[in-house]
Amino acid sequence: MYWPVSLSLICGSLLPLATGSLAQPDEQSETHYAIMDNDWYTAGFVPYLVALDGGVKVLGLASDTANSWQPQAALHAVATLEAGNLSCIPVYSGATWPLINTPLRFQAWETIHGKLAWEGAFAPENQTYEAQGNDPTSGDPNRIVKAAFKEGFPKGRPRNSTSAANFMVEMVHKYPGQVSIYSAGSLTNVALAVRMDPQFASLAKDLATGSILLADLQSDINLMIDPEASKIALTADFPNITIAGNVANQVFPSQEFADEVLSVPNPYSKLFHDYYDLSFPFWDETAAALMVEPSLAINQTSVFLDVDTSYGSPNYGNIHVYQKALAPDGIREVNFVFQVDEDRLKQRIKHSLQYPKTCADLDYLH
Ligand SMILES: *[C@@H]1O[C@H](CO)[C@@H](O)[C@H](O)[C@H]1NC(C)=O
Ligand SMILES: *[C@@H]1O[C@H](CO)[C@@H](O)[C@H](O)[C@H]1NC(C)=O
Ligand SMILES: *[C@@H]1O[C@H](CO)[C@@H](O)[C@H](O)[C@H]1NC(C)=O
Ligand SMILES: *[C@@H]1O[C@H](CO)[C@@H](O)[C@H](O)[C@H]1NC(C)=O
Ligand SMILES: *[C@@H]1O[C@H](CO)[C@@H](O)[C@H](O)[C@H]1NC(C)=O
Repeated sequence: MYWPVSLSLICGSLLPLATGSLAQPDEQSETHYAIMDNDWYTAGFVPYLVALDGGVKVLGLASDTANSWQPQAALHAVATLEAGNLSCIPVYSGATWPLINTPLRFQAWETIHGKLAWEGAFAPENQTYEAQGNDPTSGDPNRIVKAAFKEGFPKGRPRNSTSAANFMVEMVHKYPGQVSIYSAGSLTNVALAVRMDPQFASLAKDLATGSILLADLQSDINLMIDPEASKIALTADFPNITIAGNVANQVFPSQEFADEVLSVPNPYSKLFHDYYDLSFPFWDETAAALMVEPSLAINQTSVFLDVDTSYGSPNYGNIHVYQKALAPDGIREVNFVFQVDEDRLKQRIKHSLQYPKTCADLDYLH
């Protein structure tokens, strides 16, 4: 989920749909799998619906800490899947804590360098705010705020057989070159997988992330929650990394769009209509749609990208972009998307919400 500052990483593969047909997997091409990692919330189901609608076989969801704590996000993943009979898709819990960062450490940085407009999970705890139905920030990371489950509190739980990072590693070995890793929250789980298995990144199809950097390229809470993990993930040897970053023509939902979506009523179109925050662009959704259909990008460039991991720096957790000639050692080229086809993006989002897949459609999980 993206807010004024947030990043989603699609660590996966952007499968070219050779036929160009919308929402139809190309029968000729290899099966395209994805693992989708995010800070899930009540209206956070659109990215996986877009992936499924586009013919991507979603192997599982992973949870991370970004706008709220991981345990709350994992339960939202389970709850939103239950809302649409998609519980055959497993949810694996990711790391609750960033590699190094903590709310106190982050807040200490802020006292020196200035408070961020959006602090995500590191915003000070506010029980009044939580009681009003908002997801928890700071304080005890394991507390669950039931009032925030406007989609319904889940009956099920995340799978406890393995961790998100381990699931990612296992799946890229099972389906080498075919699994996109999508990450629209912090990159902690991706970094853990990269460090756990030296083959992980190269065996994945690609990494897809949506970096939503408000008006500039500088701050994104998804990066800043875990700067060290961001650096590890974004410099790893994925065959391809695509960042839906700083999309110039950020596509916003409108009340009219939400009403139109609801003209085909179902649990997802209703939740979207009632709870999607219309004040933020389709950040995570853009990243997911690019994973399905890379040609949605109508203006993109290849840049060398690094993440500042110096705690003392005013740019701690920010991205630095270099031209090849000036790039420091140890960083790599990533694909940076500036502009997407707005009409096609909205079409994909609308179709995925109005005609969501259910488990009956997902034969690969049976
Ligand atoms: C989910 O499954 C239940 C029971 O099979 C059914 O009544 C309901 O209509 C289904 N909901 C959706 C959104 O498919
Ligand atoms: C806590 O949340 C309440 C309700 O949104 C708000 O009125 C109050 O200002 C917040 N407190 C702090 C310290 O931000
Ligand atoms: C793991 O999940 C299963 C099924 O939900 C449950 O029965 C079991 O108690 C869980 N184990 C642990 C250690 O939480
Ligand atoms: C990486 O993805 C971009 C966007 O889909 C594509 O243009 C590019 O050709 C891909 N590169 C490789 C090496 O697959
Ligand atoms: C692509 O985006 C960049 C950065 O916003 C901009 O400078 C450039 O003019 C755009 N190119 C086209 C063809 O629109």
